[in-house]
Amino acid sequence: MTAPRNIVILTGAGISAESGVATFRGPGGLWEGHRVEDVCTPQALAQDPELVHRFYDARRAQLAGVEPNAAHLALARLDAAWPGNLLLVTQNVDDLHDRAGSSRLLHMHGELKSALCPACGNRIAWEDALPPETECPNCGTPALRPDIVFFGEMPYHMATIEAALAQADLFVSIGTSGAVYPAAGFVQTARHYGAATLELNLDPSEGSLWFEESRMGPAGTLVPAWVDAVLG
Ligand code: APR
Repeated sequence: MTAPRNIVILTGAGISAESGVATFRGPGGLWEGHRVEDVCTPQALAQDPELVHRFYDARRAQLAGVEPNAAHLALARLDAAWPGNLLLVTQNVDDLHDRAGSSRLLHMHGELKSALCPACGNRIAWEDALPPETECPNCGTPALRPDIVFFGEMPYHMATIEAALAQADLFVSIGTSGAVYPAAGFVQTARHYGAATLELNLDPSEGSLWFEESRMGPAGTLVPAWVDAVLG
């Protein structure tokens, strides 16, 4: 393959594992005995808003005690140095890519440090706990919720992501189990448009067979080595 110019990178919970943020489906993936699939739904929010808000309050508070690791920093280094197009798409709702310094970054599943008004669509930077029935500062509706894309909801930025995948020469997936669509299907889209595909993950993901190349190991080791090689 000739040197890639347009790179799309997808990250998942595995890239933040070495920072001390638990993955969803690995050890520590349960929270107060609940599976993530039982908490992160519109139905759960309607039936038990206290539980859902408490879950995200705990995760937002945890961010104060974690730092970007070598993998986040390496991707920020690549972003700063790469002369071609580059898009980092993360499924993560933590702010570790942001704090590492990545700027060509999209959070497709929302962000812990943001609140969403379901009435007017306002998205507001949010640092502290978010009790149910908090009023929207824009329209006054007492229904601010975590700005998280729940199961069954449409991820953010899909048109931009699909356009980038269609132009990609190289698609790299890092630290994601490949269990959740549409992100799990990005490798197939990228391949369809002719991109080379590489997976960097601790274990083979559910979609591992779709990748031309898979490297298994911790992101904190594999990602800096890959970035060094790409930057030559
Ligand atoms: N380095 C690289 N990969 C790792 C590491 C590590 N140190 N530790 C774990 N992994 C891998 C695991 O092998 C697993 O394949 O990261 C993956 C994490 O998978 P999940 O917990 O399923 O997380 P993710 O793929 O991001 O989940 C997707 O599901 O719950 C929803 O919306 C949520 O964005 C999330 C989505």
